[in-house]
Amino acid sequence: MEVVIVPDGAELGKLVAAVIAGLVRRRPDATLGVATGSTPLPVYDVLGSMVAAGRLSMHGCRVFLLDEYIGLPAGHPQSYRAVVEREVVRRLDLPSSSVLGPDVSAPDLIAACADYERLIQRSGGIDLQLLGIGADGHIGFNEPCSSLGSRTRVKTLTPRTRADNARFFDDPADVPQHVITQGVATILEARHLVLLAVGAGKADAVANAVEGPLSSFVPASAIQLHPHATVVVDEAAAGGLQLADYFRSTYTAKPSWQSL
Ligand code: PGA
Repeated sequence: MEVVIVPDGAELGKLVAAVIAGLVRRRPDATLGVATGSTPLPVYDVLGSMVAAGRLSMHGCRVFLLDEYIGLPAGHPQSYRAVVEREVVRRLDLPSSSVLGPDVSAPDLIAACADYERLIQRSGGIDLQLLGIGADGHIGFNEPCSSLGSRTRVKTLTPRTRADNARFFDDPADVPQHVITQGVATILEARHLVLLAVGAGKADAVANAVEGPLSSFVPASAIQLHPHATVVVDEAAAGGLQLADYFRSTYTAKPSWQSL
């Protein structure tokens, strides 16, 4: 695992956008797993500027949702499909048809989860998966005590996650209780994981995920199992890391030929 500590969210955006742009230039039909929430927005901003300036085309890419709320009316602005349309598809000039996610309106949600797993597999898997991290250590919507072997399935959000996400809704009671999320094991099959965190509110979760024991109590700790996981955090989110100085010096001394 590589941990990169950047000064702030803007630098995080530039660094991670450069990694994605590099991937897309090497592989124009790359499959990207996108995360919602506030943390990845600077990444989409920088990629959007590259696309607008004609320095990058993402037209051949496909975009996979990490998770989705169940029970929101179709087209609700906070459904993750709508968020990804707004924040990713429009800015990156992608065709809407390139966004793939679980069908949360299916009458049989269990079958919809299995269908989504098959869709990811048939597409050749995900090249790069962006991940946020919940203050409770979730990745995707794999809440604490999610099996580390879990696949895409229906989950119930914790009160803490619902409270954290209430800022996006007019009424906190409107935050759905249920979601479909890629499972921990599904996420681990992506070829490159890039976990992002900013702010002191994430410091404990980041420290537990990076330096704590592998535990379903902190689902993000599962990234320790991945052969190519990059954690990009700002100084505040790095505040709980015992090895912060080591991570800084490693990154400073990184050979120029070695990319993230
Ligand atoms: P955030 O959400 O980026 O809005 O902090 C991250 C998450 O809950 O996974």
